[in-house]
Amino acid sequence: MRGPEPIATVVPCLLRHERQTGGQPMKNRMSPHAALMARPVRRVARATAVLTVLLSSALAGAQTASSQKADKGEIQRGRYLVMVAGCNDCHTPGYAAKNGEVDEKLWLTGDALGWSGPWGTTYPVNLRLFMADMSKQQWVKHARTMTPRPPMPWFNVRPMTDADLKAIYAYTRSLGRGGDPAPAFVPPGANKPGGPLVQFPG
Ligand code: HEC
Repeated sequence: MRGPEPIATVVPCLLRHERQTGGQPMKNRMSPHAALMARPVRRVARATAVLTVLLSSALAGAQTASSQKADKGEIQRGRYLVMVAGCNDCHTPGYAAKNGEVDEKLWLTGDALGWSGPWGTTYPVNLRLFMADMSKQQWVKHARTMTPRPPMPWFNVRPMTDADLKAIYAYTRSLGRGGDPAPAFVPPGANKPGGPLVQFPG
């Protein structure tokens, strides 16, 4: 930091101010000596302010990095839950039949394999499209209140913790939109759909 400025630069500055205020002497005008002393103080204050801004932006950067890390962990947890809770079994095409060996790009894109029973014929929805237009909060609320038709085990989703539901959401969203919407539900009594079906008794 430079030392106090020579008095020669302070005095013209004060004179200029006097001219700007119409030649009226300023009430609390500082003596050149006081001005000399005040400058370094102001400089220190300014330097402190700059330092504060720099420090807080560095802290904000560190926070972003750690929340990104947390997101990564949450996504991994969601991936794990989707696997062990069996969501892929029905919502990923061919997953159960191929012993789970399906490219992750296809995970949760729904299936055209119909499940037929007294409830009609249902198709596992494309969860990636389903969650794409939902907020995390909307998903949690939906997961807690939904009662879709069989064989969707909604009663296994409902008791999940908020953290688990959010992790499933984070993972599904991380895959992005993908695939096509599943075929529409066919009510009981209607003509049987033409595609592949799993037939339940009754
Ligand atoms: C046994 C097959 C099966 C499994 C396992 C399964 N689902 Fe489903 N799911 C379905 C079917 C079929 C539908 C469509 C139901 C309908 O049309 O009413 C569905 C529908 C849904 C829906 C849409 C509900 C709505 O309101 O429209 C969501 C969300 C869902 N499943 C999430 C999951 C999650 C999360 C898992 C893993 C925990 C899972 N499913 C596991 C078969 C399954």
